[in-house]
Amino acid sequence: MKLLQEAIEKRGEIINDSILKVDSFLNHQIDCALMEQIGIEFANYFKDKHFTKIVTIESSGIAPAVFAGLKMNLPVIFLKKSEPSTMKDPVYTEAFSFTKNRKYTLCMERSCLNPEDSVLFIDDFLANGQAFISAEDLVHQCNAKINGIGIVIEKSFQKGRQLIEEKGYDIYSLARIQEMKDNKIVWAK
Ligand code: G4P
Ligand code: NA
Ligand code: NA
Repeated sequence: MKLLQEAIEKRGEIINDSILKVDSFLNHQIDCALMEQIGIEFANYFKDKHFTKIVTIESSGIAPAVFAGLKMNLPVIFLKKSEPSTMKDPVYTEAFSFTKNRKYTLCMERSCLNPEDSVLFIDDFLANGQAFISAEDLVHQCNAKINGIGIVIEKSFQKGRQLIEEKGYDIYSLARIQEMKDNKIVWAK
């Protein structure tokens, strides 16, 4: 997605060979016009597929997921990193972040998904795919299925893409970074 690649090049900051900072439009401040285009892009790519719900992870997955939900006319569930006391019957899973080198728990209300649900999973970054694996676990605990994956920024040099492809999922990443070197981004084809 050209507009997103330009935003990453102009407004992103390469922290090191493996971390890209995009706080000015995605992870802290949100560029709503860009998010709207991101929602349209996901809706176009997945137009022939059947979904009943979008699932994402708080907090940075919410903006792209909500804009996609608006365009696709689907509700958005965001998986939570702490359990609210108001949850009645939650499902839990452990997740591990290589980027942050720590474990965390993800949870959701079991009744949010049922066996008839066909889920589009959306997230801001794909690195090693561990967040996706944990989300997949929660969706499966509810006996629902995942029918597509939409990623805003994929770091193709990390393991996530391959892991998801090996599971046979339809994955669409809007910007695919092959390499970050000498303060330059090399895009994957
Ligand atoms: P993985 O799921 O693909 O294995 O990734 P990992 O656990 O390593 O990612 C942990 C967190 O770091 C996630 O955000 C993810 O979006 C973010 N992340 C991964 N790589 C990058 C990067 O290069 N740049 C930035 N800015 N973030 C990255 P999170 O902890 O869930 O936080 P939030 O932003 O959703 O609140
Ligand atoms: Na993030
Ligand atoms: Na995320």
